[in-house]
Amino acid sequence: MNAQEVYKELYPDSFNGKSPRPITGYTLNEIRIRPIFSDIVPQQVSLGSKIGPAILNIPLISAAMDTVSGPDMACALSEVGGCAIIDRAKRPEVQLGWIKQALESKPCLVKNPKTLNPDQPLEYAWDILREHDISTVPIVSADNILLGILFSHNIAFKDHANELIEKWMVPFEELKTESPETPFEKIKDRLLNEQECSVLPVIDAQRKLQGIYFMQDFFDVNPSTHNGKPLVGMAVGVHETDLERVEKALEMGIGMIVIDSSHGNCQAVIKQTKRIVPLAKGKAAVIAGNVADVDGYIRLAEAGADGVKCGIGSGSICTTSSVTGAGVPMFSLIRELSLARKKMKEAGENAPAIISDGGINGPGEMVIALAAGSDLCMAGKWLVSAKESLSCQKNGAQNGYVFYRGMASKTAIDARVSYRYGKQKRAAEGVEGMVEYRGPLKTWIGKDMELVQGGFAHAGAKNIEEFHNFGNQPMSFIRFTSFGQNQISTRVEKL
Ligand code: XMP
Repeated sequence: MNAQEVYKELYPDSFNGKSPRPITGYTLNEIRIRPIFSDIVPQQVSLGSKIGPAILNIPLISAAMDTVSGPDMACALSEVGGCAIIDRAKRPEVQLGWIKQALESKPCLVKNPKTLNPDQPLEYAWDILREHDISTVPIVSADNILLGILFSHNIAFKDHANELIEKWMVPFEELKTESPETPFEKIKDRLLNEQECSVLPVIDAQRKLQGIYFMQDFFDVNPSTHNGKPLVGMAVGVHETDLERVEKALEMGIGMIVIDSSHGNCQAVIKQTKRIVPLAKGKAAVIAGNVADVDGYIRLAEAGADGVKCGIGSGSICTTSSVTGAGVPMFSLIRELSLARKKMKEAGENAPAIISDGGINGPGEMVIALAAGSDLCMAGKWLVSAKESLSCQKNGAQNGYVFYRGMASKTAIDARVSYRYGKQKRAAEGVEGMVEYRGPLKTWIGKDMELVQGGFAHAGAKNIEEFHNFGNQPMSFIRFTSFGQNQISTRVEKL
């Protein structure tokens, strides 16, 4: 298969013997899917996606950026079924430390719950329960040994305010507990299926409290796990020296390795892909990119990648397209790669998953990208608004906004130059800005995913494969005229 076959099929006008004309490319924002007959309701839709050995429950990975993806994002995103790609613009020991922290995290475990001592009065416990709006408090000794649990529904407060907590707590001997090593699936099974098991405190060999699981936290979550640990990804560069951190991360249990370059159709990325694929075989998915042409997709497929990341010039903080004059609109690019993947599958060749990267800022754009042929979406702006983003962890939210910057923005380049020394590229291809803060990831991402499921349901598709089939049917996509787009963006004022 070669790239021309795809281009000829999609753009016959450019091959009809006349002198070539520019083709028309479409962005995600100007395209909509056409709702068709459907018996599928959103709740039936599975958003699961598989890349190499990595399995995700939602098709979302975080951008490997120094304002987005650190250990907290990795824990939070795997907890809701996605995967963070931990930023590489750090010294190896920092990146490996973050990976270790994320891999050792326990989805849904409340690590530092509010605790009380048995010799405190019930009145004090009552104040704490009300102040923190909680109904369950582990009771511990001065050296954090678990002695019991106080449940608000067990307290008879009237006339007992001055009695000690000890008298009213459920004592340790009557509690169900777990050890820190128990895998997530077993914890979930116990909390959802075992009688009288609404909480599970975790204790170590000395009976010291390590955290507590609450049943209600397990109702809606479907964490992405990899060999019993959270699914976590890492970004790496193209240098041979990067292989050392890759090997260490593989030993720790990393699930995705992203060879990260702003221009992935080049020898350095192909070579690095060929080096990493055999190291990661069967252990982690290898994703390479970014490409913006079919030839790039084919070359990285031939190098053995499980996934190819596409998008040049479409990111929210990206100025590449205007300042270098190079870039391809995302919708058209995904359609091109999707056709290449189809032809390569039919020919029995390696046909990597497609990961669209840049300009996917919410559920609407994700729906169009997936219908066009993406298997996964990578997002920066969408996720930086979470409490767990690196930016929010470092600077907090200021007046309801979070700082976000391109990795090729002036300050990001300056930060890299200051620790890498040596000669670096200095011209900026990105900008900085503020994004509205949305709070802890798990308080809002589920609602966004419900909207994505809504998009699938409109197309009668109950999973990504069916959604791709929908996208390959004639009449599935419609492009708004610029007048129509304008009408959408001004709808509120017109009402
Ligand atoms: P979103 O739209 O999700 O885009 O915020 C994130 C993606 O944008 C790319 N990226 C950049 N592109 N200049 C660019 O041209 C930059 O400074 C820059 N920083 C990030 C990257 O692919 C990321 O995943």
